[in-house]
Amino acid sequence: MTAKKILITGKNGQLGCELQNLCPDEFEMVAMARKELDISNSSAVLKAVEQAQPDIIINAAAYTAVDRAEQEREAAFSVNARGAENIALACKQVGARFIHVSTDFVFDGKKSSPYIVSDKRNPLGVYGASKAEAEAVVQKILPESVIVRTAWVYSAHGNNFANTMLRLMAERDELAVVADQVGTPTWTGTIAEVLFALARKEQAQGIYHCTDLGVASWYDFAVAIYEEGKSNGLLPANKELAIKAITTQDYPTPAQRPSYSVLDKSRLLNDLDVDLRNWRESLRQVFSSKAQKLKAY
Ligand SMILES: NC(=O)c1ccc[n+]([C@@H]2O[C@H](COP(=O)([O-])OP(=O)(O)OC[C@H]3O[C@@H](n4cnc5c(N)ncnc54)[C@H](OP(=O)(O)O)[C@@H]3O)[C@@H](O)[C@H]2O)c1
Repeated sequence: MTAKKILITGKNGQLGCELQNLCPDEFEMVAMARKELDISNSSAVLKAVEQAQPDIIINAAAYTAVDRAEQEREAAFSVNARGAENIALACKQVGARFIHVSTDFVFDGKKSSPYIVSDKRNPLGVYGASKAEAEAVVQKILPESVIVRTAWVYSAHGNNFANTMLRLMAERDELAVVADQVGTPTWTGTIAEVLFALARKEQAQGIYHCTDLGVASWYDFAVAIYEEGKSNGLLPANKELAIKAITTQDYPTPAQRPSYSVLDKSRLLNDLDVDLRNWRESLRQVFSSKAQKLKAY
């Protein structure tokens, strides 16, 4: 049997890198960075897709600067909405399946129980609005596409909350972290595993929610980073740090964020043969392998 060919956009992003790290042998992967394929350029997308003739495209490219997007609406929409639209059109043209990655920020956070896949989109900021428009456009062009919403993404490397916290924790004696926004920290490895399972399952279509299991505030996540960082040697074992819980009001940001964005994973768990881990377990695993790699250098 010939290997299914997957084209990945945004190969240098957190998720793009993890997809390359964890790609099973059964797939042939073509991964493209922004400079090789700018997804906001419709003719470039069509050309690249016609050339590569993939069976599946996973769109891991996005404009992810949530706060900057408030000032750069056009840039956010051009990558997130138009980019996804360009890929959907190209998939339709060559008969490829499309797996698009989306976000919990399509919701307003007003619920107090996990968001189900059919809950109404009502984004609070420009980034969320650009991702919400992408979902609507992709579903219109290609109703058989798959949309995977995830949240609070981090990986061992890259620009994310876990790595920023580790750096700040090493430098400071005191930190203040927001405790009234609740969601689920999610390792890129979890998302990659789910995306490959969806690539395998040809009849999968529609929206899936994919995060690690459990619930945390940013404050809880920071405390866990501190504890796991110390126990894995990523922070000095004798490090003393005070972590203060603050409110969103104490830490205003240009973009409003959902105060509650836990995603209900039941559709994913029913349809796919994947095991999700608790977010804390994923964090422990990521920090432990990060520490081992650092020791090996
Ligand atoms: N990060 C989160 O907390 C989070 C939460 C929920 C959902 N998500 C979603 O998860 C997906 C992956 O996010 P991530 O955290 O891996 O993002 P990331 O680390 O910011 O990576 C995004 C990648 O997209 C690339 N890119 C930007 N504009 C592009 C364009 N016009 N054409 C092609 N590539 C372009 C970037 O290229 P450069 O390297 O050149 O900038 C970057 O490599 C995205 O759909 C995001 O919306 C993320």
